[in-house]
Amino acid sequence: MSTKIAVFVGSLRKESINKRLALAVERLAPKEFTFEHVAIDGLPLYNQDFDADYPLACKHLKQTIEAADALLFVTPEYNRSIPGVLKNAIDIASRPWGTNSFAGKPGAVIGASIGSTGTALSQQHLRNVLAYLDVAVLGQPEVFIHFKDELIDGEGHIANEGTQKFLQGFVDKYVAWVKRLG
Ligand code: FNR
Repeated sequence: MSTKIAVFVGSLRKESINKRLALAVERLAPKEFTFEHVAIDGLPLYNQDFDADYPLACKHLKQTIEAADALLFVTPEYNRSIPGVLKNAIDIASRPWGTNSFAGKPGAVIGASIGSTGTALSQQHLRNVLAYLDVAVLGQPEVFIHFKDELIDGEGHIANEGTQKFLQGFVDKYVAWVKRLG
């Protein structure tokens, strides 16, 4: 039986290094793990008036998350926090009140940045949000990738053996976490 992972990449950029990191992780995962990238670019900006009659795109987002066994967030850091486009998607999926689509799912947060802090602050903010939304986020290992040169290519191939081993260690822990809690 396959295990479905809903992947949130917090960048809309075509050449996103976080999208590359997500692809690298997917390559290292066992075959029974399937990954669906959740579309967060076509969503409206959340407005509490939606709650009376939720827009179709928002309902679709919620269904995609609810159908997943687990979550993976791969996010850049924007101004020491979470990109707005990702926070918007999370806000939408958390509502209407009482229908939080994330509740009880296992998940993990990782990220890559061109800065030396490797998205540490963005991830810390995201962990806070996800704790409130009742997501069981893997504690360790933390994955703060300082992206240099062509560390990961557009298809998720990793250029550096040390990074490959490190990410394999993360994937092994994540798979065990999802199997335990899923
Ligand atoms: C950044 N970047 C950035 N990097 C960082 O390490 N800490 C930060 O606070 C920020 N802030 C920030 C704000 C905004 C608006 C932008 C556009 C960028 C740089 C960031 O790491 C870099 O652009 C990455 O390439 C973004 O990830 P993606 O889009 O390649 O996945």
